[in-house]
Amino acid sequence: MPIRPARPQDAHLLPAIEQSAAEAFLSVERLAWVATHQVLSVEEHLGFINKGLLWVAVDEQDQPLGFLCASVQDGGLHLDELSVARSHQGQGLGRELIAVVEAWARAQGFTALTLTTFKDVPWNAPFYARLGFVALDDGQLQGFLQQQIAHEHALGLPGRCAMRKALPVPA
Ligand SMILES: CC(C)(COP(=O)(O)OP(=O)(O)OC[C@H]1O[C@@H](n2cnc3c(N)ncnc32)[C@H](O)[C@@H]1OP(=O)(O)O)[C@@H](O)C(=O)NCCC(=O)NCCS
Repeated sequence: MPIRPARPQDAHLLPAIEQSAAEAFLSVERLAWVATHQVLSVEEHLGFINKGLLWVAVDEQDQPLGFLCASVQDGGLHLDELSVARSHQGQGLGRELIAVVEAWARAQGFTALTLTTFKDVPWNAPFYARLGFVALDDGQLQGFLQQQIAHEHALGLPGRCAMRKALPVPA
């Protein structure tokens, strides 16, 4: 499936994709509530699109099936949200979205990708670890990631961790 930068006209389709994606959490009893958690708004998606920091995986009709949005934090590229519609999960779209965004980040000269995620959910931290992300101990956190994890703790999110993938600077 092709991956392309999102356009403003895609934005209204993305909240439903995030909602659909989150249904995956219904299979994890202690996290089933995530399935009905608030998702990013159309306005928030437009904000990412205006900055050129939102990518979509699309079907043959160019309709989004999944998205990845990011922000520049502490000189790295932070992956804010990755979602693939429930009906299209497990077909490689999530992996491909990360690969495309990682290649873009390398070309832009970013030295790291970061994210926060659930430690023990199979399609969260273990998946990112297979892609080369390393979990950071709370003591290693600083700047944005430290604030983000503190914010998530304050919200009562259980079992979260921050992860980082260093991107070598081209010679
Ligand atoms: C995480 C997510 C975006 C991955 O997208 P995807 O298109 O399903 O992922 P892929 O098909 O590329 O598979 C990615 C890996 O996750 C694993 N995976 C996907 N769904 C899984 C499931 N339900 N159970 C166990 N592993 C799963 C795959 O085995 C694969 O591992 P591998 O490539 O290392 O062998 C998608 O599952 C999703 O939207 N989940 C709900 C939202 C979410 O958790 N977002 C991430 C927040 S940090």
